[in-house]
Amino acid sequence: MPKRSTDTAAPAPEFAARRELLAWYAKERRDLPWRRTRDPYAIWISEAMLQQTRVETVIGYWTRFLARFPDVRALASADESDVLTAWSGLGYYRRARSLRAAAQAIVARHDGKFPRDAEAVRALPGIGPYTTGAVLSIAFDQPEALVDGNVVRVLSRWFAHDAPAAAAQRWAWERARELVPKSKGAGEWNQALMELGATVCTPRSPACERCPVAKACLARARGLENVLPRAKERPEPIDVELVAWVVERGGDVLVEQRPETGRMAGLWQLPTEQRSPRRPQLFPAELGIELTPGPELGLLRHAITHHRIRVVLQRGTVGRARVAAPLRWVPKAELGTLALTGMARKALAAAFGRPNLE
Ligand code: ADE
Repeated sequence: MPKRSTDTAAPAPEFAARRELLAWYAKERRDLPWRRTRDPYAIWISEAMLQQTRVETVIGYWTRFLARFPDVRALASADESDVLTAWSGLGYYRRARSLRAAAQAIVARHDGKFPRDAEAVRALPGIGPYTTGAVLSIAFDQPEALVDGNVVRVLSRWFAHDAPAAAAQRWAWERARELVPKSKGAGEWNQALMELGATVCTPRSPACERCPVAKACLARARGLENVLPRAKERPEPIDVELVAWVVERGGDVLVEQRPETGRMAGLWQLPTEQRSPRRPQLFPAELGIELTPGPELGLLRHAITHHRIRVVLQRGTVGRARVAAPLRWVPKAELGTLALTGMARKALAAAFGRPNLE
């Protein structure tokens, strides 16, 4: 008898598990607004937002974003600051800028229609293999695979693949390409894998008793479901101490625009000084303006990539009304129209309650 190669002939339990996973998804899928459309633009926006943010948060952002920029042309012709305002609070602002740049490229190269060709999609600014696979499979049902953190986890457990994080990611792409249905149903399959990872095969305490793949799952058979996939080695976060100034004058609040380059470029925040450490210098050590310190209003904690931030909110007063860029007086009622950093939204909400910040 010819020897079966595991690469070309999958063992029977794998086929059964695939059917069960698809049946489970058909029954259990969450009813999410972007699952009610096949519009590639709407799906693209949802996938860009979902890459860094929880589903519950994305629903509101996605709904408002689509109401504001309903199609590729609307996004392409929007002011960058309006796009950043609509994105404000989602973080990773480069992504919002890339979305707009990609929309402009779609108008210029593809007459405003989202391309159906993987190479053309990959050539758009800021669009990587995950987003390409997601939009082409979900909107056009093309047989494109995708891998995100959920998929790495599900596949690593299902096949008990034990490798360091980077290698596991490469392996997961190969495996996902083998598994994706080649004639139809790629979009459903990809979403089923992600949905399983998001709701059942969770990072901690996976709910194996509810899992449609449990019988075939090799990690479970070997007692490795809580061990795989191996965690990425993360550097210890750096503690950063800041003072954010709450300065009011009449009905105005003093805000500051971040530099045009670097982290959160061009976004708005309360005037902020970094007290420690000196490196990395995320904020200046001093503002270019004399402030008279007032009482402390409270303490906030915030996390951004590799940094654990502690912010003292402190009232201050200024002697002169004239300020120069990057500082600016903004009426309190208009704060919500600025493209604020996530930390600024928290700080303003803590200082004033929620002034139109949603
Ligand atoms: N996570 C990101 N995109 C998703 C999708 N389309 N379905 C389920 N989970 C997701």
